[in-house]
Amino acid sequence: MTEMKLIAFEVRPDEMDDIKRLAKKWGVEVATTMEVPSFDNVRLVEGSVGVSTLGMGQLNRELLTAWANVGVKYVSTRTVGYDHIDLAAAHDLGIRVCNANYAPNGVAEFTIMMIIMSLRNYKQAIARARVNDFALAGLEGRELKDLTVGVMGTGRIGQKVIELLSVFGCEIIAYDHFEKPGVAKLATYVSKEELFERSDVITLHLPAFDSTYHIIDADAISSMKDGVVLVNCARGELVDLSALVDGIETEKIGAIAMDTVEGEKGVAHLDRRTDIIANRDLFYLMQFRNVIITQHMAFYTDAAVASMVECGIEGIVRMAQSDERYTTEL
Ligand code: COI
Repeated sequence: MTEMKLIAFEVRPDEMDDIKRLAKKWGVEVATTMEVPSFDNVRLVEGSVGVSTLGMGQLNRELLTAWANVGVKYVSTRTVGYDHIDLAAAHDLGIRVCNANYAPNGVAEFTIMMIIMSLRNYKQAIARARVNDFALAGLEGRELKDLTVGVMGTGRIGQKVIELLSVFGCEIIAYDHFEKPGVAKLATYVSKEELFERSDVITLHLPAFDSTYHIIDADAISSMKDGVVLVNCARGELVDLSALVDGIETEKIGAIAMDTVEGEKGVAHLDRRTDIIANRDLFYLMQFRNVIITQHMAFYTDAAVASMVECGIEGIVRMAQSDERYTTEL
C-alpha cells in the first residue's frame, strides 16, 4: 500500500522533530514548507490528500476549491482558532477540517503575565533600567487584590485564566454567550455592559466570529472605567485598533497589552526589520509607555508545540481512517 501523503505549511524548525516522529508513527509521508498557504503555492499541494496549516494564511473558498481540485480531502489547522478557514466552503467541497486542542495553560499564564506587566508599568521600568534610570517616579502600580477583572469568553482558556486569577484575591466577573457551569465557583457571570462598567482589567478570550468582530470599539471603551487595562491574547479582530488609539491618547485607557492585533497577518511570526510596514495605528500605538505588543506568542511553549503538531498530523490520519466524526473535527 502506498503511503498517504500530507503537506504541512508554515512549519517552523522547532516543529520538525515532532513532525518526523509522527510521520513515522502513523506511516505517512509529510512534506513540509515554511510558506504560508496561498493561491500562489497550490502546486505544493499536488499529490497530497491532507494539508496542515498554522493560521497565517486565509483558507478561503477560492483556495480550498483549488486544493479540492488537486485531490485534498482533509485539512488540519495546528491552531485552536479557526477563523482563517471558510468552513462552509470546506463542507461544500467535501473537505473535512479539524483543529488543535492543546492545553490552555500556556496562553493563560501569558495572559496573567500581560495583566501584571501592565499593572506594574513594566514596559517603562525595563526601558528605564536599560539606560541606568532607576527612579521610581511614575512607576507606582496597582495590586490585583484591589481590582475587578472582567474575563470575556469562558472557553478552556478563559476558564484557566479565571482559575489562575483566583489566587490573587481579585473580584472576577465573566461574560460569555454560553455560560459554563464550572465558572460560577470562582467568577460571577454578568452582562457585557456590566463587565465593561465594572472592570479595572478586561481580558479577552473570545473566538473571532462575525458576532465578536470589534466587540471592543469606541462605544464599548467609552462605557469602561477610566484607566481600564485591556489585554488581548485571543484574536486581533476583537478590537478596533483606531478606537484604542483614541482611548490611549485621551488616557481613558490606562494600559493595553496585546499578543494579537488586527492586521497582524504578514507581520506576526516574521522578521520584518528591514521592511516598510503600513499599519499606522499599530505602530503608533506601540510607542506608548503603557502599550505592550508581543509576537502572537502566548501559545508558544514546548508542550503546546508538541500537541499542535500531534493534532495536525494525527487529525488528518484519523479523519482519513474513519467516516466517523473526529474529536476536534469542525
Ligand atoms: C491558536 O492556536 O489559535 C493560535 O492563536 C496560535 C497561533 C500559532 C496562530
